[in-house]
Amino acid sequence: MLSSSAHRAVESLLAFWAEAGVDAMLLDEPIDRIEAGKIAPPPAPIAPRPIPSSAVRPAPPGSDITAAVEQALSMARAAGDIEALKAAIEAFEGCPLRFEGAAHQAVFYRGDPAAPLMIVGEGPGAEEDARGQPFVGRAGQLLDRMLAAAGLADRVFITNTVFWRPPGNRAPTPAEQAVCAPFVERAIELVNPKMLLVLGASSAKAVLKKDEGILSLRGRWHEWRSHSGNLELPVMPTLHPAFLLRQPVAKKKVWSDLLTVTERLDRPDRP
Ligand code: URA
Repeated sequence: MLSSSAHRAVESLLAFWAEAGVDAMLLDEPIDRIEAGKIAPPPAPIAPRPIPSSAVRPAPPGSDITAAVEQALSMARAAGDIEALKAAIEAFEGCPLRFEGAAHQAVFYRGDPAAPLMIVGEGPGAEEDARGQPFVGRAGQLLDRMLAAAGLADRVFITNTVFWRPPGNRAPTPAEQAVCAPFVERAIELVNPKMLLVLGASSAKAVLKKDEGILSLRGRWHEWRSHSGNLELPVMPTLHPAFLLRQPVAKKKVWSDLLTVTERLDRPDRP
């Protein structure tokens, strides 16, 4: 039991954090709730902030990863075009992020559904969750500037490995990515791009199924193959734009990767 002065001190600290924009409390390592076989209810707020009623929802029935992947597969396969796939994602309840991190909505794509280049990021952040489109925050604005400079602006379809915001903007877990993967794969089939550009370490791992770090993967072409084996595409991994906001000196690496992509897209005999 806290004394009343300790109670006031805790309240004042929480109010300070809320004022500073802290809206989630995280451990150093993400908890993989699917693997753990349980889905926690949405985390309690750490500060006295009003919570939209849409943020407080029950966990979905069943938390078995295999069942969730099966359900995602059948919903994704049934989608005949990108808008049907968007509706399927919005209806899907098998990803715990929908109940843990997202306050507003599923975030699927922006860009051209017939684009020659598909970009796969990690997962939506707060701005994306609020607006319903990927890469619309600061990292997205940087991405857009770099794409425009590389001549790629209107030639992209942009999505993520997961479609709901991970709490506190942590990286999505492999299990969360696995549950969303059938929708990502179906998006690749429907858009049928000429190549993929994957942004950041966790997206590169999920898409390429390789354990190397992003610094060793980036700048080289890799191969992506669909589960059916019917589709193979070249993949360029590169650094995440959020990383570039913290380490601007790394921009030249991404710039070089983008030029490599543009060169291959524009090659007459490509890919
Ligand atoms: N970071 C991502 O990986 N994806 C987004 O949509 C936004 C930020």
